[in-house]
Amino acid sequence: MPRQFFVGGNFKMNGSVDTIKKIINHINDAEKDPNTALYLLLAREHLKAPLEVAAQNVFDKPNGAFTGEISVDQLKDSNITWTLLGHSERRVVLQEDDQFVASKTKAALDGGIGVIFCCGETLEQRESGETVKVVTTQLAAVKEKVQDWSKIVIAYEPIWAIGTGKVASTEQAQEVHAAIREWLKKEVSEKVAEETRIIYGGSVSEKNCKDLSKQPDIDGFLVGGASLKPAFVDIINSHL
Ligand code: G3P
Repeated sequence: MPRQFFVGGNFKMNGSVDTIKKIINHINDAEKDPNTALYLLLAREHLKAPLEVAAQNVFDKPNGAFTGEISVDQLKDSNITWTLLGHSERRVVLQEDDQFVASKTKAALDGGIGVIFCCGETLEQRESGETVKVVTTQLAAVKEKVQDWSKIVIAYEPIWAIGTGKVASTEQAQEVHAAIREWLKKEVSEKVAEETRIIYGGSVSEKNCKDLSKQPDIDGFLVGGASLKPAFVDIINSHL
């Protein structure tokens, strides 16, 4: 069965209520593939169904003295159904390690929140041929804690492509996506490998999204900068 195309817009720490409302209104009103699941991170409740809202992070403890953190229950109270986890900006800037990201992944899934699980390598790791090892190590930490992969979407985001304008080539992206799918098949199950959406992130734009979307193991995108622009709709429809 074909995997449903999945596009996320990661606003990161950008925008204002006014600018985000403008973007959401533009996307609500635009012609869109009715089957694409669009998950705008930190979008407000203005999004029209079936668009869903996702957070950029969630904590792994249910409640307590964790200033600045957001719990799974608080996301559910706000009708937020997905969260990003393991984004490289949190792994690098906030030093989140594989075990912590895996623990948060388990907490979110146990609470019924879908997880967009980010993984990816640095330029140095790519140049030393460690890309697949890095990415599968990040995934292995999840495998230790999680059995049900049905609400995980994997986002391969090479760190050297994030925010740089240096998008991975279709061959580079497809190669890693295929390696991730092969890992899922070997380490989890054939069914999970077949059904899991593996999306690409890192300088996706309306210019490069069509070619990337044609790759057999690229099931969508996680978009940063371009999600703040009207052309985001072209990325949403790129697979049509
Ligand atoms: O989570 C997606 C983001 O990291 C990609 O950013 O600006 O390269 O599309 P950008």
